[in-house]
Amino acid sequence: MGETTPIKKVTVSYLKEAKAKGEKVTMLTGYDYPTAAALDAAGIDMILVGDSLGMVVLGYDSTIPVTMEDMIHHTKPVVRAAKRAMVIADMPFMSYQISTKEGMRNAGRLMQEAGADAVKLEGGVEVAKTVRAIVDAGIPVVGHLGLTPQSINVFGGYGLRAKGLAEVDKLLSDATALELAGASAIVLEKIPAPVAKYVTDNIGITTIGIGAGPDCDGQVLVVHDVIGLFEKFVPKFTKQYAALGPTMRQAFEEYVSDVKAGAFPAEEHSFPADEAVTKALAEKSRTKAKGK
Ligand code: KIV
Repeated sequence: MGETTPIKKVTVSYLKEAKAKGEKVTMLTGYDYPTAAALDAAGIDMILVGDSLGMVVLGYDSTIPVTMEDMIHHTKPVVRAAKRAMVIADMPFMSYQISTKEGMRNAGRLMQEAGADAVKLEGGVEVAKTVRAIVDAGIPVVGHLGLTPQSINVFGGYGLRAKGLAEVDKLLSDATALELAGASAIVLEKIPAPVAKYVTDNIGITTIGIGAGPDCDGQVLVVHDVIGLFEKFVPKFTKQYAALGPTMRQAFEEYVSDVKAGAFPAEEHSFPADEAVTKALAEKSRTKAKGK
């Protein structure tokens, strides 16, 4: 019997080592078992169960309606599939903004009930106290700065962030506040590439960019954008590696037409009965036909 080497899970130490060695880390979102299994098999470092699931899976127009129950429900199958990848669960809108205590309780639920390895939350200085408390409770935290979709109604749109110098200064103080509060990494969303490089060079923790250029310590994208399953809009910063939307539609159209034409199920998809049963059924049909 050949011995199998145990799979080494990606942890926050892996992120630290990668930053020190200048090695890029990879993250994609995932919200279900088969996708998470494929991501894990492909060697992804981190799977983010993002609250983007509200838009790409649940059909909402924003991430605002996503609940703790939604996050727990979708994190569980990802955790079951991820043998190596670190699973990070997003803290949904209003699960940490009300008080540090509620933030801690909800972060704890994502770890205890859903099995996540870490949690992610949006914001800088204003959430630093909550981040500190969650980290002190033993839960790794990933921050999220730049375009923060949960605050979309305050900003009034999904435009580029940190365009001016004042915004850049604020971004770096927010990133520094998260680092001092014990965060392990920060997602930087939709900011100019040189700004992301500046932040990455000036903090000690891992930056993970989405629409933030090539100089972050790692990259993340929404998996439905990557495989072409979300077709309402395609952000400029995304790269589509497959077009599963059209492939899926074609398969469904062929199924519909096969069933209507009687071409499915064919003999190879059906179960025969015993010969005696088949004969008896034929006899029954004949008798019934005669009686008419
Ligand atoms: O919810 C999400 O998918 C995210 C990514 C865009 C980073 O926060």
